[in-house]
Amino acid sequence: MATNIFHGHKLIERHVTLLAVLALLTVAIGGLVEIAPLFWIESTVRHVDGIRPYTPLELAGRDIYVREGCYGCHSQMIRPFRDEVERYGHYSLAAESMYDHPFQWGSERTGPDLARVGGRYSDEWHVQHLKDPRSVVPESIMPRYAFLADREIDGKSMAAHLIALRQVGVPYSDDDIKQAAADFDTQATGEGDIKALQARYAKAQARDYDGDPKRVTEMDALVAYLQMLGTQVDFKSAEAQERAK
Ligand code: HEC
Repeated sequence: MATNIFHGHKLIERHVTLLAVLALLTVAIGGLVEIAPLFWIESTVRHVDGIRPYTPLELAGRDIYVREGCYGCHSQMIRPFRDEVERYGHYSLAAESMYDHPFQWGSERTGPDLARVGGRYSDEWHVQHLKDPRSVVPESIMPRYAFLADREIDGKSMAAHLIALRQVGVPYSDDDIKQAAADFDTQATGEGDIKALQARYAKAQARDYDGDPKRVTEMDALVAYLQMLGTQVDFKSAEAQERAK
């Protein structure tokens, strides 16, 4: 018996095509088992209360975050270790980045993790920090992004962004798409139909973010995005519910 197995092995080793075919088959089975479930992402990521798609303004801010390469120095994934949880807050859930295309987990932390930075600082602090990081954190090595406050933007193109994201599974409704430009203005100025905005996007905060109410700038969008990060899930009430069970 033992000699038989040895013989078979010898056969495979001596026929390079057979070896390649069998190796490919083995790798393919392993690959299928690992990768295939991810195509049915709904069953892979458990839905969590409070998670909603980004508002048009937050989405514009996110695009600026990606454009400026903030992910090169900042991660957005709090790992489930005590030191991380004590510093940043509840560890990140898969559902919290289910509407991120592409996700911003990052792998480099020259600066701190930003997954739960929302609400930690005031808008004024963010604006000052982005304009001149060393004016608030003297030892900072973060670059300045003062120019963002001079670049005006509007929400005209946001409907197209929402349509594109819907193609990859983000559940924007027809109404969300129709109202995208109006929602953008409402959230960046605090003027307009805030109730309708919040009915579509729970907990969306509408105000002037950059301290310049006369115009809407990239600074407004980026700060709106930062102030929302990590605030969608209400962990206090989720834990209370868990305990009550
Ligand atoms: C070269 C690396 C680098 C880049 C690029 C960078 N940062 Fe930072 N960031 C840092 C460092 C270092 C700190 C910590 C010191 C400080 O607060 O300035 C920091 C701190 C921060 C903080 C405060 C976080 C906290 O919890 O205290 C925010 C918010 C932030 N960065 C946002 C951004 C955004 C938005 C961008 C892109 C527009 C960006 N950073 C790009 C290095 C970087």
